[in-house]
Amino acid sequence: MGNELLKGKTGIIFGALDANSIAWQVAEKAHAHGAKFVLSNAPIALRKGDIFTLGKDTGSEVIPADITQEDEIETLFIESKQILGGNIDFILHSVGMSPNVRKGIHYTDLDYNYLMKTLDVSAISLHKVLKVAYRMDAINPWGSVLALSYIAAQRTFSTYSDMAQAKAMLESICRSFGYHYGRKKKVRVNSISQSPTITTAGTGVKGFNSFHSYSSCMSPLGNASAEDCANYCIVMFSDLTRMVTMQNLYHDGGYSTMGISDKLIEECFVCQGDCHEKHLDD
Ligand SMILES: NC(=O)c1ccc[n+]([C@@H]2O[C@H](COP(=O)([O-])OP(=O)(O)OC[C@H]3O[C@@H](n4cnc5c(N)ncnc54)[C@H](O)[C@@H]3O)[C@@H](O)[C@H]2O)c1
Repeated sequence: MGNELLKGKTGIIFGALDANSIAWQVAEKAHAHGAKFVLSNAPIALRKGDIFTLGKDTGSEVIPADITQEDEIETLFIESKQILGGNIDFILHSVGMSPNVRKGIHYTDLDYNYLMKTLDVSAISLHKVLKVAYRMDAINPWGSVLALSYIAAQRTFSTYSDMAQAKAMLESICRSFGYHYGRKKKVRVNSISQSPTITTAGTGVKGFNSFHSYSSCMSPLGNASAEDCANYCIVMFSDLTRMVTMQNLYHDGGYSTMGISDKLIEECFVCQGDCHEKHLDD
């Protein structure tokens, strides 16, 4: 793609773990579109080492930060500004984790310490990032902040557990902080509600393959891939979407508007959802 939608723009990308990560795809696209950025992830995630490959491929520095710790976020911003030569234009919050989900604890029996951890890592961390950026005045006017959400914020998915509450809070923080940051500095804050996507976080949810297949059958366009999501993020970081803020933007092949699809009734119960490619040829 020849267009450089992010030429001259700088940012911070949180949450690239491996090549399947949505943040990884966003980093690759942002690089292709001319952006310069810093990659950040939890110190423990850096040990695996994959992110340094991404850093090398995109000419980006990697700075560890536990996104629940304000002091680590502040250090990240200070160092990022030094590396990138000043204030930044975009932030991707692509972070989520639930100890209740990880440990297979049933929703009706949630561990509340784990619930607090889920909310802190997956939602309140966005507030912390925005709070530090706001206090340091670290984002340029018309900058764009994106967080990744899931439709379980609005509807019930039986095994999504306390991540549903985290996503509802995450979207709410986008609206509330979006107001204040928009008034102060014309900074935009939005969430993108993405299709089920095969990543480490995604496949950690019990029954993931079933609802991945189900939503593929239900959506007229099929599931949006991580690469599709990355393309959408690039447009949202660009100046082409300057007046979009405080929105939860569905990026799901039409899933969120569907009730039932003929394909689901007629075929997908039989083919177990592995049929979207076939349907495209219909
Ligand atoms: N995969 C899906 O089906 C799907 C669908 C909709 C939304 N999302 C959301 O997309 C985002 C990215 O997830 P993904 O699917 O790419 O999976 P992923 O596992 O690749 O990314 C999750 C990231 O969160 C990071 N993280 C966890 N705790 C952290 C902490 N304390 N500090 C800093 N980073 C921390 C992990 O290291 C990892 O890089 C998440 O918010 C997820 O909920 C995913």
